Amino acid sequence: MEKELIIEARNLKQYFRISDRYTIRAVDGVSFQIHSGEVLGLVGETGCGKSTIARTLAGIYQPTEGEVLFGNMPVSGKNASKEQRKKMQREMQLVFQDSSAALNPRMTVEKIVLEPLRIQKTTRDRAASRQRLLELLSQVGLDDTYLEKYPNELSGGQRQRVAIARSLMLHPKLIIADEPISSMDISIQAQIVTLFQRLQREQGFSMLFIAHDLSVIRFISDTVGVMLHGRIVELAPSKELFDHPLHPYTRSLLSAIHVPDPIYERSKKVIDYDRDSPLGTVLAERSPGHFVLE
Ligand SMILES: Nc1ncnc2c1ncn2[C@@H]1O[C@H](COP(=O)(O)OP(=O)(O)OP(=O)(O)O)[C@@H](O)[C@H]1O
Ligand SMILES: [Mg+2]
Repeated sequence: MEKELIIEARNLKQYFRISDRYTIRAVDGVSFQIHSGEVLGLVGETGCGKSTIARTLAGIYQPTEGEVLFGNMPVSGKNASKEQRKKMQREMQLVFQDSSAALNPRMTVEKIVLEPLRIQKTTRDRAASRQRLLELLSQVGLDDTYLEKYPNELSGGQRQRVAIARSLMLHPKLIIADEPISSMDISIQAQIVTLFQRLQREQGFSMLFIAHDLSVIRFISDTVGVMLHGRIVELAPSKELFDHPLHPYTRSLLSAIHVPDPIYERSKKVIDYDRDSPLGTVLAERSPGHFVLE
């Protein structure tokens, strides 16, 4: 059976006009698909356009060119279907680096996690809501003693757990997680990534997971997109990408991963990649599902 297509970016471009003479091409012709239950990881240096993709998918920005499709229907541009946009808003949730900091400081954990029900005006009886609330808290590793706590009484990791519980309240089909761990201590990062992976496997939602750290991307993603200057320069199934990186930029990223093996360390050469080398525009398929920008 064909897997259900959840979201698609088609030749997405997002330009920011700064002045008459200066336009930032934050996203410059990006295409990918995420199917049901799939995790697409996006990695690339700061400023390469990852968050802009997340915001454009979420409908916060209208693309300069190209299209976003949700469940095969356009949700951006002139052809956008209003109903489908609404459906997307219900079925897509965002988790950001600072989403834990953005929790309303005057609301208790209980109110925060239940908020999506109120916003979407979903009718649900109190007992069922309460049961879902407790279920979600336990899924993110918090017990009912947290219900009456306020965000400032929680650690950063606990706040992100609350933000994740809230994002799951309406059984989303897609989670967009934009560097959801980068503001945390390393040990907490590992806990939260493992939590994301477990929840994704249990609940089967699709995910766009953005991270700086290649080892995190490798751990959580089915497919990996490597971004450089607003483009995905290489896109491949995770194992394929890490075993057979083809683009020089991907290779240079991989060669920089710290491998704590002294023999390997001594023989390792960091491959330099000329960031100014001209990139073509053709996506060539080298092996099934493995695309490289030439
Ligand atoms: N609203 C905006 N107006 C103007 N320029 C913007 C806007 N948003 C992003 N940019 C620019 O677009 C480029 C891509 O930014 P973006 O935030 O998408 O990068 P990123 O890959 O998420 O980086 P990081 O890893 O640091 O989060 C940057 O040059 C940034 O300055
Ligand atoms: Mg970003």
